[in-house]
Amino acid sequence: MSLYQKLQKASSEEDVKDAYIKALGLKEVQKNLIDIQTKEIWFEAKQNAKLSSYAMFTQLMHYVQDALNKGHYVPPFLCVIDTQKAAIMKSEDVIPFLEKKTIKWGKSASSYTQEALDAISAHIGTHFVSFKIETHEEEFINTVKNAIKKGDIIRTPITPDNLKQVFDKWVAMIGQEIEGIKDEEYALLFFADIMHDGTVSTHDNLPAELMHKDGAPVFVLNGKVYKLGNTEGYRQFWAIYHKPPKAEYRNYLLERRDSLIPIDERSFKGAYYTPLNVVDKAYDKLAETLGNNWQKSYIVWDMCCGVGNLEVKHSNPRNIYMSTLDDADVDVMKATKTCVAATRFQYDYLNDDIDDFGNIDYSLTNKIPQGLSQAIAEGKKILILINPPYGETGSGIGKGDKNKKEVEQTKINALMKTQELGYASKELFVQFLVRIAKEIPTATIAMFSKMKYVNAPNFEKFRVEWNSKYLGGFVVHSKAFDGLKGDFPIGFLVWQTNQKKKTSIAEISVDVIDKKAKPIGAKIFYNLPNNIFLNIWIDKPNTNDELALPLSNATTISNNPRLKKSCDGMVGFFYASNNDLQHAGQETLISSSIFTGGNGGGLYITPENLWQVAIVYSVRRLIKQTWLNDRDQFLIPTEPLTEEFKNDCLIWMLFNGSNLTASANDLEWNDKKWSIVNHFIPFTEEEVGANDRFESDFMVRYLANLTPVRVSNPDRGNKPSWASPEAKAVLAEGKKLWQAYFANTDVRAVREELKLNRADVGWYQVRNALKKRNESGDYQPVSFKPFEEAYKTLSEKLQPMVYELGFLRV
Ligand SMILES: C[S@@+](CC[C@H](N)C(=O)[O-])C[C@H]1O[C@@H](n2cnc3c(N)ncnc32)[C@H](O)[C@@H]1O
Repeated sequence: MSLYQKLQKASSEEDVKDAYIKALGLKEVQKNLIDIQTKEIWFEAKQNAKLSSYAMFTQLMHYVQDALNKGHYVPPFLCVIDTQKAAIMKSEDVIPFLEKKTIKWGKSASSYTQEALDAISAHIGTHFVSFKIETHEEEFINTVKNAIKKGDIIRTPITPDNLKQVFDKWVAMIGQEIEGIKDEEYALLFFADIMHDGTVSTHDNLPAELMHKDGAPVFVLNGKVYKLGNTEGYRQFWAIYHKPPKAEYRNYLLERRDSLIPIDERSFKGAYYTPLNVVDKAYDKLAETLGNNWQKSYIVWDMCCGVGNLEVKHSNPRNIYMSTLDDADVDVMKATKTCVAATRFQYDYLNDDIDDFGNIDYSLTNKIPQGLSQAIAEGKKILILINPPYGETGSGIGKGDKNKKEVEQTKINALMKTQELGYASKELFVQFLVRIAKEIPTATIAMFSKMKYVNAPNFEKFRVEWNSKYLGGFVVHSKAFDGLKGDFPIGFLVWQTNQKKKTSIAEISVDVIDKKAKPIGAKIFYNLPNNIFLNIWIDKPNTNDELALPLSNATTISNNPRLKKSCDGMVGFFYASNNDLQHAGQETLISSSIFTGGNGGGLYITPENLWQVAIVYSVRRLIKQTWLNDRDQFLIPTEPLTEEFKNDCLIWMLFNGSNLTASANDLEWNDKKWSIVNHFIPFTEEEVGANDRFESDFMVRYLANLTPVRVSNPDRGNKPSWASPEAKAVLAEGKKLWQAYFANTDVRAVREELKLNRADVGWYQVRNALKKRNESGDYQPVSFKPFEEAYKTLSEKLQPMVYELGFLRV
């Protein structure tokens, strides 16, 4: 529990004292008239937060005065603490004043006079450092510990590690006091503030400037002066932190401006900075694909350079053009002297210089440097080295309609719409590729981006239009990039484009790099036609005219179902959403009536398609989703499927955790009571000791009619069986659990929750009822371990076959 949490629970002054003693690790503590006394510090403590730090210090000074008068020891530090705040000061800053003995004290420390309060307040106001424990607990503890250890009040340095926290606190204590400033401008003023030692700035030409007017700090941005409403927060903040940061960190901190941009703004602009260890790998890949001389032989243009991370490792900056959306980023590059010899300029690549017909006309803005336009016109070798913003309309980038519209409304997006590039026109980084193709049709492109332009079905139209030869590349874990949510591969792919020559992308072989930029292997990404995807393998049975009971779990009715029709002769429903691994793990299940709890998709299970359902269900759930494979598409198998494989998949599905087939009576929906019948019990009533008849024996009959696959031990007279030894083991252990279910009756609450009002319960109901019995401790425990081991053996047998039979490509 944090100090702050403890303080909120404190019910006496003793609790408050003890919480601080523990958090500060105080040694040789005495508690007398002075609340806490150590050799180094005296503390005045309060049980609530009603008194100001000034009043508490006035009380503590009473004891200091007393000690001074008597010639007793006074420690080097004085501290006041309560449940919300704390403040510390050096005794030496007050002793000379107290020695004058000019203050009229009250009778006791707590009955201080107004005169004493005024006099002490006037004197100590600039000497103590105060902390709000809720937000500055760590800083307070470090300051006190340092004071004890080093004999001084040392302010917290600003480093790359605490930059974001310090910034957030700066916004709360200072930024919000600045009148008329926008949220996205805080970072600029913050840097102006921290890069200033009180007299001069560490950098010339930062976008904003700190100045002092009438003794108070003011900020200047774009020629306008911004004042603080109240300067107390400013004083308190800079009593805690030290500025400027150490020289070695300064440029690095400035370059991390991206991490301080408000999150909406940041994801909208795609301001995610490429870490330098990943940039290193990109340079290795460029040397590998373009030759060791690439820095000399190519003119580089990064048209979304941010603060220039991708170019800082380039040793020939005269060959580089760097442009980006934000003026402030260009200013930061200038102030940090990033790639000084490069040509750096502000340019909105998706809007600038594009006329109403989608043509590029540099005279519209005149921002493109002459050297660059000439190189383009002369067809010189140009390398586009970029990490463009990623973000699709409607995929949660930014928030609200405003951002959505802005993504939609770039001029390149308008052009893409006229070219009917479909879904891809929503993606910002593809918009960059489209303009590049038009402007520099034979450019070499080295780009960081998501992989969807290479393999996602939605980007097929774009791929048909975009002609490019793949030269080499790698994928890196998204977590290598600060601030990106989710786990997915980010590609750095090098392309030789040639829009005059038809080239299609078939497969892309890449190196794989982990979160720490360490190489961990290789992978192939495929661009495959939609007509070989597994989601079209099973023919959908026709529906009938009857309404189907819509489920959102085994026996739970959907809250807000769209009305759906049922299907003649159906034995269940197979829910399977998108055809990739990312969706398969979460969005694959079977149920006893239509499942409408997901994003749609799925089909009715009939006796005819059950074998295929079992296979698609199994392959979708057998392979674990990882950051690297999650966009891989399932494919129609390319190899013949054995009876053994088919039957194994059926048993694997029947005993899988997402088999939600069940039975229940009295489900109320649409002004009527409904029953669901479970057709998926692989055992007879006798085999499991059921207490009543099962309405359907479909699965028992279905299994009995399966084609025998092998004779496990013919010498012993064993007959051919449809089940492999691995499937048999699962069935045998599963049967024991089913028997255990019928050996007892559940309590009413469990019966109601799991709708155990019929004998033909499903695997979902059996499993969960047994688990609840085990948890209750009222029944003899039933072990799942033998079942789990048998199931694992079957899973391990099937997993490699998913690849061997062509359902997924390695
Ligand atoms: C993913 S960041 C990469 C920054 C830097 N190149 C790096 O790798 O660290 C993308 C950059 O593109 C900029 N950007 C966004 N939209 C742009 C546009 N329309 N034109 C130019 N730059 C843009 C953002 O401001 C951001 O700095």
